[in-house]
Amino acid sequence: MTTDALRGETLASIDAAQTPEALEAVRVAALGKSGSISQLMKGLGGLAPDERLKVAPVYQALREEVSAALEAKKTELGKAALSARLASERQDLSLPSSPLLSGTVHPISQVMDELSEIFADLGFAVAEGPEIESDWHNFTALNIPPEHPARAMHDTFYATPAEGGERMVLRTHTSPVQIRTMMAGKPPFRIIAPGRVYRSDSDATHTPMFHQVEGLVIDRGIHLGHLKWTLETFVKAFFEVDDVTLRLRPSFFPFTEPSVEVDVGCSWEGGTLKVGGTSSWLEILGSGMVHPKVIANCGLDPNEWQGFAFGCGIDRLAMLKYGMTDLRAFFDADLRWLKHFGFASLDVPTLSAGVGA
Ligand code: DAH
Repeated sequence: MTTDALRGETLASIDAAQTPEALEAVRVAALGKSGSISQLMKGLGGLAPDERLKVAPVYQALREEVSAALEAKKTELGKAALSARLASERQDLSLPSSPLLSGTVHPISQVMDELSEIFADLGFAVAEGPEIESDWHNFTALNIPPEHPARAMHDTFYATPAEGGERMVLRTHTSPVQIRTMMAGKPPFRIIAPGRVYRSDSDATHTPMFHQVEGLVIDRGIHLGHLKWTLETFVKAFFEVDDVTLRLRPSFFPFTEPSVEVDVGCSWEGGTLKVGGTSSWLEILGSGMVHPKVIANCGLDPNEWQGFAFGCGIDRLAMLKYGMTDLRAFFDADLRWLKHFGFASLDVPTLSAGVGA
């Protein structure tokens, strides 16, 4: 190869190198120990003196030119690598320091937090139970024996019984948590149990899964007056209205005696129902004094321990408080609805700041 051709080829390879590794390979091929230009230089020793005098400066110049080109390319690649790194590690220093909030707290979760906050202030703990519940906890222990007509009202989802085993159900109410609480500890008890419940029912006002909160107080000398005061205190705190009238109507539940249904006084304001006043009544919960048989079923002496219980639909509470009209919207996962009715994730309800967030 002529010196000119070698020069052209080497400079072109330098120009084409895209990475420091490729450039180093070109350097080794030209200027390394057995590189093409180094071989030329080595060959000088074997030439006749006048020939050597002629070509030595040419080879020398070639070596210098290639070294300079390698150096220039190295600097160029280094700069490009630095800019790429700076671009990839770029930080926008103008971003806000507070977390970027996306997503909101679902109104049902919000209301559950509000209930926990209100009842915690009254000395209630939050209790839990399984959603796949035994028939005994969901019905029998609550004084609803097999064949009791109340079972028919619950539209229960039954699981296929295991061989020789108990038949499990999707709990139809949060009341079995009363049983689990009384059996697991020692009285006195003061708990609420918010959670999911299931019934085979679906229309504009019923969904197969919905939410309830159960309340249970067991102590000595508990009477209906305690129940009424507790519910009034709760309703005032929850709806943030002082002018609240409750109406207790006699009713029947197998697990309470006496049993009452509780209505809250409401009034219509511009087409929506508002809590307060007494021009209209809305049923919000069922309650009563825990039936002595239920207390005995949990291994406690009903002559020593009495109490009250209540059960309330959370979805309905949320609708009434936040002015929602269709129950099904809770479960549609429509982002526009969630953004409109949702709550900021860091806005934890507190009594001091107002539980309504
Ligand atoms: N478990 C009842 C239901 O789902 C509601 C209820 C009524 C719960 C009275 C209670 C109670 O604890 O005392 O319809």
